[in-house]
Amino acid sequence: MRSVNLFRFAVLASTAFTLAACTDTVFVERPLFDDPPTEAGGFVGYTDVESKRTVCGACHVGRQAEWERTAHAHAWATLEESGSSRAFCESCHTVSSMGNLETNENVGWVATSNPRFHDVQCEACHGPGLDHVSVPDAPQNQPLAMLSVGDDLDQGCAACHSGVHRPFTEEWAASAHGDVVAFAAARVECASCHEGKAALQSWGVKAAFLEQDEAAPMAITCGVCHDPHDGRFQGQLRMPVEEPSVERNLCMQCHGRTAVAMPENVRGPHAPQGPLLLGEAGWTPPGFEYPDIRIMTTHGTQANPGLCATCHMETYELEDPETGAFSFRATGHSFQAIPCVDENGVPTGETDCGLQERSYGGCTGCHGSADAARSALIVARNRIDGLVGTIGALLDRIPEEEFGDPSVLTTADGSLFNMQLAQEPGSEVHNPFLLEALLVASIRQIERDYGLTPSGNVSLELQFTPQ
Ligand code: HEC
Ligand code: HEC
Ligand code: HEC
Ligand code: HEC
Ligand code: HEC
Ligand code: HEC
Ligand code: HEC
Ligand code: HEC
Ligand code: HEC
Repeated sequence: MRSVNLFRFAVLASTAFTLAACTDTVFVERPLFDDPPTEAGGFVGYTDVESKRTVCGACHVGRQAEWERTAHAHAWATLEESGSSRAFCESCHTVSSMGNLETNENVGWVATSNPRFHDVQCEACHGPGLDHVSVPDAPQNQPLAMLSVGDDLDQGCAACHSGVHRPFTEEWAASAHGDVVAFAAARVECASCHEGKAALQSWGVKAAFLEQDEAAPMAITCGVCHDPHDGRFQGQLRMPVEEPSVERNLCMQCHGRTAVAMPENVRGPHAPQGPLLLGEAGWTPPGFEYPDIRIMTTHGTQANPGLCATCHMETYELEDPETGAFSFRATGHSFQAIPCVDENGVPTGETDCGLQERSYGGCTGCHGSADAARSALIVARNRIDGLVGTIGALLDRIPEEEFGDPSVLTTADGSLFNMQLAQEPGSEVHNPFLLEALLVASIRQIERDYGLTPSGNVSLELQFTPQ
């Protein structure tokens, strides 16, 4: 069928000059694309380089329109304009074997140097499309893209987003998102946060991809958070990170499992970060008084435009390691706030360094200096630890039967929940104000209900005040 089209194209092309001002019918007859060189290995690339019209986009019109808004669509210009372009740079800024299942490296741009293969087009991720384009509905020809990154971190997005522009994949792989907690991924009620495919399904993503029907669990890979096509949200994400809303914020889709005390939540908080940041977490004793119950620090308001990402995805500058000719902005994908860093400020991946050996780059946009952020952290940690210690000692004096009845929430249950919330790593930064208020109110409620007075000299006056 394709050869018929191509034949027709050849005839038209030879008369194109004389027909230049001719009627539309000529264009209706026009075949989909110019025959790609044989050495291209089945990649078809652009049908029009200038307007960035891909052959695929002739039919998948919506995908084409979305993709045009992404950085992938101008990857070639970025490379050229850097002034540091070398031959070895090109395979990631063009269509070739990088990012798809094609194993022959000498295909696409690499084999042809034809500008129709400029930029990270559809086939960079989907693989060669000639067969599919020729017979679009043949099931064996569907060029499905992959969402996994391979055991050696060299497939899919990872093929390009690693190595020369190093950090993304390597950092991600070492983070908890790059790992699967097998028993949680295997349970239906847990998988929507603990397994990549199930997360996408729970968000209503129906698009077909290679691993879709595989039984093996998939980690929270690049393509779970990032939309492969859509550049609508900053960072090409599936959902925004700047929305202060548990329903709409990307991170809070998963980081908001159990944040509020209820009789049945006997296991305590589970990934409470989102609601805590927004001031919607914890147990509020009956007489709880606070200017605004949904209290949040600046950290949880729109004055912090990246919310979780501001602190947990610090950007830092790297010299291009191959040429040293230009510097490169990396977005931290270890997801660690205050990561351990070496003397050049580059994250080391360790987690047990002291507070002095950490980067506070995610904080200094607001806190002025690393020292200021560090001392705020230490003050908050000491204050919250003091209150936690006090509550813990009180809870030890309350009889067992006051705890854990799933039909009623006692003051003991609620106070225990608040104490556990305060002990979650990072809580004292996520929302020191709300925590302090909840812990103090819990201590007062324990005094009232059980007649126990706190030992020690911890102050029950609120010390943090919103600016
Ligand atoms: C001539 C029109 C046409 C062109 C050009 C075309 N496709 Fe398709 N494509 C289709 C049709 C029609 C289907 C649906 C086939 C089916 O469901 O049986 C399809 C299906 C797909 C699917 C699978 C979707 C699913 O839900 O299973 C992918 C992925 C895809 N195309 C990618 C591409 C890529 C990449 C290119 C460029 C190399 C491309 N297509 C070019 C018409 C086209
Ligand atoms: C063939 C190589 C290649 C593959 C495969 C690839 N990328 Fe990229 N990506 C690039 C290049 C090159 C750029 C930089 C383009 C520019 O800035 O002009 C880029 C840029 C990006 C950006 C930055 C967007 C922005 O607004 O700055 C994101 C996000 C991204 N890619 C995500 C992905 C994801 C997710 C995948 C896998 C589904 C992927 N990429 C697969 C090469 C690739
Ligand atoms: C292994 C694949 C790969 C190779 C090889 C590669 N790049 Fe890139 N390049 C990327 C990816 C992926 C991005 C997008 C990273 C991002 O947006 O954060 C990128 C982004 C860039 C950017 C934009 C930087 C920025 O901060 O926005 C420039 C400029 C660039 N590359 C130039 C080069 C040059 C020059 C070379 C050769 C010395 C090269 N690239 C080789 C994959 C590659
Ligand atoms: C950066 C990698 C990447 C690029 C570039 C890319 N895709 Fe995809 N595409 C994917 C991945 C991964 C999926 C499956 C997950 C998803 O769509 O969210 C996919 C899914 C699809 C589907 C299946 C949709 C469905 O409903 O089943 C089609 C069709 C498609 N892409 C077409 C295109 C076209 C056309 C282009 C170019 C205009 C393109 N893609 C560019 C990675 C990419
Ligand atoms: C848990 C969600 C998540 C996962 C998983 C993830 N990212 Fe990101 N990524 C983000 C967020 C959030 C940003 C920052 C967006 C912003 O604020 O601009 C980002 C930024 C980026 C950027 C820079 C975009 C820009 O505008 O500068 C690139 C490139 C990127 N990610 C690639 C990847 C790759 C490659 C992987 C897989 C190895 C990956 N990401 C995995 C959430 C994620
Ligand atoms: C699809 C669900 C999902 C999304 C979306 C998600 N996370 Fe996670 N995150 C998890 C799970 C599950 C874990 C714990 C996995 C484990 O412990 O093995 C985790 C762990 C973490 C950790 C602990 C890191 C470590 O290495 O110990 C941080 C920090 C984190 N996420 C931050 C974020 C941020 C910031 C975002 C948004 C940019 C985000 N997450 C988006 C599910 C998600
Ligand atoms: C709404 C999303 C969500 C659901 C549903 C969910 N979790 Fe989690 N879980 C997370 C996130 C996010 C983290 C990481 C953040 C943290 O540890 O606070 C996490 C952390 C964990 C951890 C700690 C991992 C570690 O590294 O120590 C375990 C274990 C766990 N979950 C098990 C489960 C089990 C079992 C279920 C089902 C009964 C489940 N989760 C349901 C989001 C969820
Ligand atoms: C104002 C900065 C800031 C914001 C905003 C923020 N965090 Fe944190 N987060 C931290 C700090 C600091 C820590 C403690 C890190 C440490 O001690 O290594 C932390 C710890 C964590 C941890 C525990 C990590 C571990 O190693 O166990 C998770 C999970 C987490 N944050 C997720 C989130 C999520 C999800 C959001 C958004 C809802 C968020 N954080 C918003 C600063 C922040
Ligand atoms: C968007 C701006 C912003 C960012 C980013 C930010 N902070 Fe803050 N932070 C503030 C402001 C403003 C306050 C003062 C209280 C208020 O009004 O919210 C504060 C208060 C605090 C407090 C409470 C104790 C006190 O001094 O009031 C701690 C602890 C803290 N920040 C730690 C951090 C750490 C650690 C980071 C980086 C991981 C960070 N912050 C990032 C703006 C920010």
